[in-house]
Amino acid sequence: MMTQQNLDKSNNKKKIYIKTFGCQMNEYDSNRIYDAVNKIGFEKTDNYEDASCYLLNTCHIRDKAKEKVYHEIGRVKKIFRFKKKPLVIIAGCVAQAENQEMLRREPYIDLVIGPQAYHKINDTILNHIEKTKKIEETEFDAISKFEYFNKIKNGSGKISSFLTIQEGCDKFCHFCVVPYTRGPEYSRPFKQILDEAKYLAETGTKEIILLGQNVNAYNNEKYRLSNLILEIEKYSDIKRIRYTTSHPKDMSDDLIEVYKYSKKLMPLVHLPVQSGSNKVLDLMNRKHTIAEYYKIYNRLKEINSNIQFSSDFIIGYPGEEEEDFSATFKLIQKIKFINSYSFIFSPRPGTVAADLKLIEKKISMERLEIIQSQLYDNQMNMNKSLENKTINVLVENLTDDKTQVFGRSEYMTSVIFNGKKEDIGKIVAVKINKSNRSTLFGERDFSSNQKVA
Ligand code: SAM
Ligand code: SF4
Ligand code: F3S
Repeated sequence: MMTQQNLDKSNNKKKIYIKTFGCQMNEYDSNRIYDAVNKIGFEKTDNYEDASCYLLNTCHIRDKAKEKVYHEIGRVKKIFRFKKKPLVIIAGCVAQAENQEMLRREPYIDLVIGPQAYHKINDTILNHIEKTKKIEETEFDAISKFEYFNKIKNGSGKISSFLTIQEGCDKFCHFCVVPYTRGPEYSRPFKQILDEAKYLAETGTKEIILLGQNVNAYNNEKYRLSNLILEIEKYSDIKRIRYTTSHPKDMSDDLIEVYKYSKKLMPLVHLPVQSGSNKVLDLMNRKHTIAEYYKIYNRLKEINSNIQFSSDFIIGYPGEEEEDFSATFKLIQKIKFINSYSFIFSPRPGTVAADLKLIEKKISMERLEIIQSQLYDNQMNMNKSLENKTINVLVENLTDDKTQVFGRSEYMTSVIFNGKKEDIGKIVAVKINKSNRSTLFGERDFSSNQKVA
């Protein structure tokens, strides 16, 4: 039976466009959804006007996440006003949180599918095409999801590829929706991850970024994150390894020690602290203190003084007083965090902190500005310190105008220099001439193989 939608099963012109919001895990999922739906004839398109299927992979972490989705649907409706309606799918964390409610509120939506049900996406789409029935799939089933993805090759083919190793969270910080949208902690089997890493290495990946909502809580049989790092670095084609996002409580001895032995683990540790005040950490239910955080910092710095830290901060959490805020400011000055994220607390429905008394918006905004200005200074100083030095850059692509190349430093900072197409996928020495807060500019340094940073 043919549907009225732009899904022509008789020719092979089904195209899917995915718009992704939120964290790297959503990006990973979007790429795996592309791989999966390819099996039922959907080709990826970067031009949304061409799409016969429009999928929104949503994030629920802050602000008016739900409203943003309905707003986006409004935009899609306009784009397709005089065309055939695409199949509209809502995936990701808002889908998980809102499920059936979305189908009721917006009839333009055809399918709602939560992050743990992506293994059912092809069946769900095919069922819908055949029966044109609105479907909602939001059960928690991480095992089936990864077993299914494991059978479909990861088609990333990128120089730097994400690889999700762990999903979900059992920590229940009082501000956070993740335990509700991503479900309980689940670690993928060790061998399954290594197979995927090997395939990525064989298909052009040079850098693997291991992902998890609490990536360092990875725990499968006797294996931990440190084992994965040491095993993946045996693949000679993989030149760099990173992991994100980690929790201070799971910064175990073996993971700290791995910085002594690993040759490919990058010297940037993204370790969210949220606040510099023990009182606020306690109110947040973070399960660690500032002293414990410093201990991790000092141990890692002792192992390698070049290690830098980046972090996430929540400003204006209910109960944050001036002295708590000052403690956060001091921590940022002391640790000199680079590449960090900071946001004002956003109450999330269903979480413990949802109904707490908010502090005045004006105060939160002022505090955020102060914090961000310090974080920007740290970043600028770090980048300035690299001027006139030679650093190692993993080249990812040509710049848009194709006259230069784009890559990343060991600290994830963008680097633009006069490289060639042949440099893509290689680590090359670049002398930095100029910098701004987000980017380093330089030229190939043929005189040096020296590793500086
Ligand atoms: N698991 C990581 C950890 O515990 O540090 C964080 C993962 S969470 C997806 C990413 C970041 O979102 C958090 O570190 C936090 O700073 C921010 N975040 C989460 N809930 C928030 C909220 N209600 N308001 C503002 N920021 C929030
Ligand atoms: Fe959210 Fe991270 Fe806390 Fe888990 S540990 S509840 S993901 S902030
Ligand atoms: Fe957002 Fe879900 Fe990631 S809420 S940050 S997309 S885990």
